[in-house]
Amino acid sequence: MDNNNKQRPRKRVTKEVLRRRQFTALAVIFFILLMIVLLVAKGCSKNESSEDDAPPINSTAITSETLPAESEAVPTEPVEEVTQEPTTEAPATEPPTTVPENPNTITKIEVDRHEIYIAVGQTDMPTVIMTPETSTEKGEIWSSSDTSIATVDAYGSITGVAPGTCFVTVQAQNNPSVDAVIRVNVTLDGGAGYGNGYDDYGYGDDYGYGDDYGYAYTSKKRASQNATPLNMKEDSADSAKPQDNAADAPLPPVYSDEGLTYIKGLLVVNKNIGLPEDFCPGLENICAEQFYKLSQAAAESGLEIYMGSGFRSYDEQVVVYNDYVIRDGKQAADTFSARPGHSEHQTGLTIDCNSINDDFGYTDEAFWLAKHAHEYGFIIRYEKDKEDITGYQYEPWHIRYVGSEAATYMYENHLCLEEYLGLA
Ligand code: DAL
Ligand code: ZN
Repeated sequence: MDNNNKQRPRKRVTKEVLRRRQFTALAVIFFILLMIVLLVAKGCSKNESSEDDAPPINSTAITSETLPAESEAVPTEPVEEVTQEPTTEAPATEPPTTVPENPNTITKIEVDRHEIYIAVGQTDMPTVIMTPETSTEKGEIWSSSDTSIATVDAYGSITGVAPGTCFVTVQAQNNPSVDAVIRVNVTLDGGAGYGNGYDDYGYGDDYGYGDDYGYAYTSKKRASQNATPLNMKEDSADSAKPQDNAADAPLPPVYSDEGLTYIKGLLVVNKNIGLPEDFCPGLENICAEQFYKLSQAAAESGLEIYMGSGFRSYDEQVVVYNDYVIRDGKQAADTFSARPGHSEHQTGLTIDCNSINDDFGYTDEAFWLAKHAHEYGFIIRYEKDKEDITGYQYEPWHIRYVGSEAATYMYENHLCLEEYLGLA
């Protein structure tokens, strides 16, 4: 007998059991479905929760207020990039890539002379032409390659200090790469033909900014006037010692021209007493010589005192004074600039030392000058506490030659010239 063929007898199931099995199956299916639903729900919930952890894109949490200070300047473009619709259009407001050319920028400087000859103590001022002529910014920067030979002030007035050759450069203030150079030959007599090497020089070591300045005094004018000191070279060897007596610094020359006022042998010029328009002596020999001695003595003490400005004619003072009036108004100009015919620079007995501005008053050179100028016959003409008498602001750089006797008396008694002459 084949057992395989033997059929198992079918188990009989009651209706009750069948119903229970159906209920159980439905419960399992329901449970499975419930589990699926829960899993799906949990998955969705997890996704939402992970988005919350990320920095909010449009959230106000990223604002200039909540970011650290360093981030304050960070623009919010990234936010805009995310929220903006992508576009293929080029930005309409893109800034221009080239800066428009400034019509005032100076592109060229020309000078009327590239070489000048001046005597020691003499001044000259070349004419400058700037391009474009329509520019409203024609400021100039002047410098001398060697201020021991010639100085130049902020307005291009070049003054001979000692024999030699140097180079004066003028640059455009609003475009310093544009410049012009003038070869300056300083001679004993102001004429050409004084042989000097000029192949060893440096540029731009002295920018003469200041409130006061000397104007041009042309070579022609100068040649017909006062002779320049011919004995300076011989004197220079033994002139480096301070003087201790008045004999070496005598009274300045006296002229017989009408309209000049002398008191105690000194030519007087101040707010009330003027000079004739045609009085044009140039820098006096004695003034130049004594200044040379003074600067040599200062050099022995390691100080540099040079002639920033010397003689100014009546016409030059017209230009100087008017420029100040235009710049600062008449009332202010009158406190530091003399009216034409009233400047001591027209006497040929006055020198402005070094760079002419208030800072000079705090230099060792200014202290030395205040202490020793009288030994060489000079006074500080406009003292700090004499402004009510002189009518001018303190000018520590402006020295006037009066001879050492008068200078020493005024120094020791703390008098200004008006007081010394009985005019105060
Ligand atoms: N700065 C003096 C006062 C002058 O102009 O002569
Ligand atoms: Zn002066």
